[in-house]
Amino acid sequence: MEILFVGDVVGSPGRDMVKENLSKLKKRYRPHITIINGENAAGGRGITEVIYKQFLEAGANAVTLGNHAWDNKNIFEFIDEAKYLVRPANFPEDTPGNEMVFLKINTLEVAVINLQGRTFMPPLDCPFKKAEELIEKAKKRTNIIFVDFHAEATSEKQAMGWFLDGKVTAVVGTHTHVQTADHRILPKGTAYMTDVGMTGPYDAILGMEKEAVLYKFLTALPARFEVPKSGRTQLSACIINVDNETGKALSIKPILINDDQPFFE
Ligand SMILES: [Fe+2]
Repeated sequence: MEILFVGDVVGSPGRDMVKENLSKLKKRYRPHITIINGENAAGGRGITEVIYKQFLEAGANAVTLGNHAWDNKNIFEFIDEAKYLVRPANFPEDTPGNEMVFLKINTLEVAVINLQGRTFMPPLDCPFKKAEELIEKAKKRTNIIFVDFHAEATSEKQAMGWFLDGKVTAVVGTHTHVQTADHRILPKGTAYMTDVGMTGPYDAILGMEKEAVLYKFLTALPARFEVPKSGRTQLSACIINVDNETGKALSIKPILINDDQPFFE
């Protein structure tokens, strides 16, 4: 099967890119499962119920989150009912929301896991131990396990890739918003990519208005970062081909759509 994963969707420009391109991507790559990271989908911070439902309507089967999961307070009103929303699993026990979601495709199941890094990020439970615990549970039902590792440090992401090589189908990174050129199949069959990249404003800094970010760098004073309301946009994603029996990945291909790399139908 093919798994399509769209990296951090940022604000309305990111959501518009998903709306515009998801059906084209589906036509070309024919994914059986589509997963979107939506932790920046509401104005760059968090996700609302309306946006979560829009993603499902647009063709996503699951939506993953990250450190901004809780920024939109509305999340607590719908997270318990949101069957296909996956929050970072290594938050303390009893945190609302799904640690892992199973998606059904005919007779097959895909486990979707979201973990958050701890290097240069707020302290959380160990993502490596949590991964082991969830994989043990998932393996009782399926060999096809997809991991979105939402983390800052490349080293921590690479460590997770090697740690889970042969145990899961894919470890792909999110959070740093720039697509990395290191996609590969690790020796024991796990697809790996340090960061899938961001879907949203193109002429910006990590999806935020460049003026405010520049101001902060130049003055060392605080600045409020906002998602630009207009301007050019991009979409970052990857497509993973999976051996249904073993759950091992056969290939991983990055997808990047912007004015410098237009998408040809
Ligand atoms: Fe993030």
